[in-house]
Amino acid sequence: MSKVSGKVALVTGGGQGIGQAIAERLHADGFKVAIADLNIDTAEKVAASLGGKAAGVIAVQVNVVDRDSVFAAVERTVTQFGGFDVIINNAGIAPSSPIEEITPESIEELFSVNFNGVVWGTQAATKAFRALGHGGKIISAASQAGHVGNPGIALYSATKFAVRGFTQTAAKDLAKYGITANTFAPGIVKTPLMENLAKKVASDAGMSEAWGWEQFTKGITLERLSEPSEVAGIVSFLAGPDSDYITGQSIVVDGGMVFN
Ligand SMILES: NC(=O)c1ccc[n+]([C@@H]2O[C@H](COP(=O)([O-])OP(=O)(O)OC[C@H]3O[C@@H](n4cnc5c(N)ncnc54)[C@H](O)[C@@H]3O)[C@@H](O)[C@H]2O)c1
Repeated sequence: MSKVSGKVALVTGGGQGIGQAIAERLHADGFKVAIADLNIDTAEKVAASLGGKAAGVIAVQVNVVDRDSVFAAVERTVTQFGGFDVIINNAGIAPSSPIEEITPESIEELFSVNFNGVVWGTQAATKAFRALGHGGKIISAASQAGHVGNPGIALYSATKFAVRGFTQTAAKDLAKYGITANTFAPGIVKTPLMENLAKKVASDAGMSEAWGWEQFTKGITLERLSEPSEVAGIVSFLAGPDSDYITGQSIVVDGGMVFN
């Protein structure tokens, strides 16, 4: 992709996994990057590894569940870098949720991070773009499980379907401000989130960790797991000028699990 000189992006959940890979890729693309995470230690570590403030990278603590916290993180990014162009609503959690074990609390827990966090990020970014007098790009994490219901993770799948639905309306409602909204939909990516899920599914079934991973790798056309950098490549495209005519879409990057 062409270098994006000096534009500003904020990545939630940027302290590890896919978010870290996105932060690294956007920085390489020429963005100034705010790495926003609940875990400020990992966010600071990633920021330092990319050269810190001098290299156009800051760490910001955020809890995406908390609307005020998300607005504060975006405002801090604008103050530090003097602009704001792209938000990546990437933070998410993925506990398993067998249908008969779902409770009001588990619904609240999953939706507050995976869905509400996207809503607050979309609002905060829209406010910043409009105050700065230009458009921008809103990019949120969906999943292949937000295209097809996945066994054992009903709530997670539901949050990701919700993110796609919200994004379609955001695209229509915010186009008049020059704002596009899209999602990326990864498959099975080698990250701490996926590792924890594979281990949990295996221990629930009394099977080995390798068996747990196999439950998720069956049916991947390319017959391998995804690297976080492969998801970051799609986010780079969605954050850059080559995707200016794309809005309201969910780009599946899953090695061929879901065929639309
Ligand atoms: N790993 C996969 O296979 C996969 C597949 C499809 C979609 N996704 C989605 O991609 C996104 C990133 O997943 P990952 O695998 O890198 O996860 P991960 O668990 O490795 O990293 C998630 C990051 O989000 C942060 N976070 C969690 N809750 C937060 C909160 N309330 N506020 C701010 N930060 C918070 C964590 O501290 C962590 O740094 C998620 O939305 C996930 O649902 C992942």
